[in-house]
Amino acid sequence: MEAYLQDFLNMLLRWLHVIAAIAWIGESIYFVMLDNSLRPPKAAEDQRKGIFGELWAVHGGGFYHNQKYATSPDKLPDDLHWSFWKAYTTWLSGFALFITLYLANPEFYLIDPSADWAWAASMSGWQANVVALLFLLAGWVVYNELCKRLSPNMERDGLLSVAVAVMMVLVAYLSTQIFAGRAAFLLTGAVMATAMSANVFFWIIPGQRRMVKAMKAGAAPDPLDGKRGKQRSVHNTYFTLPVVLLMLSNHYSFMYSHEHAWLIMTLFIFAGALIRQFFVLMHAGSIKPAYPAAGAVLILLNVWIAAPSVSNAPAAGEDAASAPANEGASLERIHEIIDARCVQCHAQAPEHPAFTAAPSGMAFDTGEQIVNQIAQIKQVVASGYMPLGNITQMTDEEREEIAAWEKEK
Ligand code: HEC
Repeated sequence: MEAYLQDFLNMLLRWLHVIAAIAWIGESIYFVMLDNSLRPPKAAEDQRKGIFGELWAVHGGGFYHNQKYATSPDKLPDDLHWSFWKAYTTWLSGFALFITLYLANPEFYLIDPSADWAWAASMSGWQANVVALLFLLAGWVVYNELCKRLSPNMERDGLLSVAVAVMMVLVAYLSTQIFAGRAAFLLTGAVMATAMSANVFFWIIPGQRRMVKAMKAGAAPDPLDGKRGKQRSVHNTYFTLPVVLLMLSNHYSFMYSHEHAWLIMTLFIFAGALIRQFFVLMHAGSIKPAYPAAGAVLILLNVWIAAPSVSNAPAAGEDAASAPANEGASLERIHEIIDARCVQCHAQAPEHPAFTAAPSGMAFDTGEQIVNQIAQIKQVVASGYMPLGNITQMTDEEREEIAAWEKEK
């Protein structure tokens, strides 16, 4: 019952998280599009008022006329529309999800017992939780310091972009060395998503508040506040596509269970940013297919890199015949492997204290259950997705044995 209620809570949080993220990212994409689509105002009156650009749009059966002021408008209305709750809700619900899933079960979601770095492989559950939280925090601190030190007056934003890109490669690399694959992808996405929300919380909104306050007092707003808000929004724009993919990566073990997962992750991050760049330029009136083409090349490279290494078919000839995997592979042998590696979780009444029922409704207590579900079993062990966090230390040979046996069926 407790596990069921936990699952239910998880589902509600996920629902909220996805909706908030859609609303936030949708709005962010809309405003970037709006900003880049502005054209000089046609009416002389508007030019006199100091209007810098405008966009006419038709949507939902009505006509819209957006105008952006070059400097501050003469008078600000009291009912100014602000955008921040969507950003905060997305981060808070995402963090809550991270707690209920990853921090609640660090042994099989965070820790990689086969990590190259011995200290990472031997972390205890609570140590892994602390390291994961520090990782998130450090991501924001380093990113924020880079922005403050490299381009404090927004005059070296190009250099800053390169530094942030290098930082993301490092985050991708370190996360995959320290944590289990899925957690590494999720945490790298969370580093970017945290920077996005923190940009809104610590810089964009406070800057806008200072601007509004100055204008209401009849003073000129500090132009740095406006420029900094823009600098951070631009970073957020290029983070959106990669973040969404990293959040979804959970469902695709070929992405995160590869030994060069950091490279796969890096290529996807750059592919997302390149594709985003195409849309940014397109709204500004310039069509540059080279960007999505470059993104597609990186994705194709990943198709090749991420291809599963545990073969679906044993090699023809000698190798296959002499492979110990095939010798006398019998249901008993497969049952033995699954008993040792899976059944503490995947049983009608699991021994593992985290479960009160078989995860995903999949129990492997009997030979019949194994035979009926062998296709899925093979799929998840070949990709390395199961056993979760390889907590039961399944070997590559055992994975091969299951793959070979499934093929015979
Ligand atoms: C530590 C507990 C644990 C162990 C050990 C474990 N699993 Fe799982 N398994 C889970 C959980 C939890 C899920 C639910 C999905 C998730 O959280 O990723 C799952 C889901 C699955 C699924 C469904 C996947 C899907 O896409 O819905 C299959 C199939 C599976 N496990 C097979 C196995 C096999 C085969 C083994 C042994 C080689 C194994 N599991 C070992 C916990 C475990």
